[in-house]
Amino acid sequence: MCGIFAYLNYLTPKSRQEVLDLLVTGLKRLEYRGYDSTGVAIDSPDNKNIVMVKRTGKVKVLEEAIQEHFSGGEYSKPVLTHVGIAHTRWATHGVPCERNSHPHRSDDGNGFVVVHNGIITNYNDVKTFLAKRGYEFESDTDTEVFAKLVHHLWKTHPTYSFRELVEQAILQVEGAFAIAVKSKYFPGECVASRRSSPLLVGIKTKTRLATDHIPILYGKDEKKLSPDQDIRPHGQSRELPVLPRSESTSEFMPLEEKEVEYFFASDASAVIEHTNRVIYLEDDDVAAVRDGTLSIHRLKKSLDDPHAREITTLKMEIQQIMKGNYDYFMQKEIFEQPDSVVNTMRGRVRFDGNAIVLGGIKDYIPEIKRCRRLMLIGCGTSYHSAVATRQLLEELTELPVMVELASDFLDRNTPIFRDDVCFFISQSGETADTLMALRYCKQRGALIVGITNTVGSSICRESHCGVHINAGPEIGVASTKAYTSQFISLVMFALVMSEDRLSLQQRRLEILQALSNLADQIRAVLQLDSKVQELAKDLYQHKSLLIMGRGYNFATCLEGALKVKELTYMHSEGIMAGELKHGPLALVDDSMPVLMIVLRDPVYVKCMNALQQVTSRKGCPIIICEEGDEETKAFSSRHLEIPRTVDCLQGILTVIPMQLLSYHIAVLRGCDVDCPRNLAKSVTVE
Ligand code: AGP
Repeated sequence: MCGIFAYLNYLTPKSRQEVLDLLVTGLKRLEYRGYDSTGVAIDSPDNKNIVMVKRTGKVKVLEEAIQEHFSGGEYSKPVLTHVGIAHTRWATHGVPCERNSHPHRSDDGNGFVVVHNGIITNYNDVKTFLAKRGYEFESDTDTEVFAKLVHHLWKTHPTYSFRELVEQAILQVEGAFAIAVKSKYFPGECVASRRSSPLLVGIKTKTRLATDHIPILYGKDEKKLSPDQDIRPHGQSRELPVLPRSESTSEFMPLEEKEVEYFFASDASAVIEHTNRVIYLEDDDVAAVRDGTLSIHRLKKSLDDPHAREITTLKMEIQQIMKGNYDYFMQKEIFEQPDSVVNTMRGRVRFDGNAIVLGGIKDYIPEIKRCRRLMLIGCGTSYHSAVATRQLLEELTELPVMVELASDFLDRNTPIFRDDVCFFISQSGETADTLMALRYCKQRGALIVGITNTVGSSICRESHCGVHINAGPEIGVASTKAYTSQFISLVMFALVMSEDRLSLQQRRLEILQALSNLADQIRAVLQLDSKVQELAKDLYQHKSLLIMGRGYNFATCLEGALKVKELTYMHSEGIMAGELKHGPLALVDDSMPVLMIVLRDPVYVKCMNALQQVTSRKGCPIIICEEGDEETKAFSSRHLEIPRTVDCLQGILTVIPMQLLSYHIAVLRGCDVDCPRNLAKSVTVE
């Protein structure tokens, strides 16, 4: 949900052209977060002004504009120290257009320019406050108020440092944000901060840093703004109160005295090609670079604050975020699944000893076993992984298992108790609804377990314990390999919970055995690719696709329909086969495309009933069935055969044809596979 990228080179000569290349590459890595419009801001060639380039559409359009207007001449001369900021947008306030694109500016003279991810919820109040002081707004965005607020503070408090100005502005805004600010009045400086939206700082130095920790600094005076003074109560005509200026000389702790480059980014994929040394900022951290020195400040000190932010070494490899020989990231990620499922199990499942250890939660297992109920909470595909594994969790834990959509869970103010165990499932670890639900449950004393793919993400950090699914970076907006890895993580959890249950040992062995064959079976399913492509040719001009199944495969129906909708813009519905006769059957005729999952498991007979209900209404469903199941195949000329596995893992093998099908239909319909319209990968707004 919007990507932020900023680059600061200190005593490291770079031409503006090189800086622009760096910014554009950073944006390309973050494009999956939003791609409605893009923009960059750099210093003008005479260093007296800030130049902005903005374009509606994807980064490619911006790149072309930059190549046309900002190359050669002054733009190719090296600059010793420089700050550039960049943004790719997923529109929340205001339609995608250049006027609403970031960076947003404080005034005609581009005194302060800001890139922002998130939503400033009290922007109307701030806007009213500023409008009364003569500020005119040129966009429909919430972000613009931030740039103008910093400018107002600069005018009224001329002695303030850049960081202090941004800190003061942050105190006045509510909602979620990650921001990076650049100013022509503070050349060579950059200030960035976050609250509920992700932001990290990458550090690149020639020599290794003397320390792996950046101390956290606090304002000397931690006086809080009193509510009657600040602007939040509906933007009355009060002047902004400000904290006394702190003495900045003692606040800046040198990180490194020599040449250094800093990267501020919404996630690690944008910095990994430059450095693997990053600091994940926490909510309300203000990171400022001045004279090449990074400092991290917090406005308020709380008892559990650490004294420093640690520099983390990323394990990610650059190849992981490149497309390689594939046409799309989604395609690559689908085909990575034989490896990604193994990576999820690596070091955790010992097939020889039938043992499973989940290091991230093992100390909490006794507490989990004593809980009142398990709650699995997520959005979209992550929610479907909970639906897919609920039945097995109920069977192996013998606990009540509730599966919740995070947004609905919050709307209902669901009762939560201290002896609840709440799982938050999220590929990105940043999904706002899921994160809000996590905080809601944490406040009520529940044990919080994170199931995420993104190390260092908010959900990861705010959980008591958890499982990294280790699927590797997932860049295509449509989630694929994360789903199968979330699925396996929850299966592993169920196996851990049942390890001392004698009556369940046979079942556990059967599942472990099936897990050991899974990678090969996924490879076999991927071989269906050309057959699926042929099916896609039959389907891509239709308006709708119904996907039916039940039991362990109902989640595949939901997930398959979600994939078809988001990638192809076709209508698609995942239908619980048992519900067919209660309404959806009315949709079936000889022209309605239907896909049914009919496997040899305990609900086979019921699925066959549904199949016959469809065929007797002249429906001609495509069937996903088990290899060699002639009886089932006889009901349709179009079928996809998948290898036989244990019932509770079928969903992993049946979802892959659905991923391939939605992918091929999207290609045939000319859709942008990796960046479906109106969507973004990481949904950091509620
Ligand atoms: C799936 O293809 C989606 N793009 C979407 O439903 C996604 O799963 C959802 O937004 C949740 O994201 P998360 O896993 O990062 O929390």
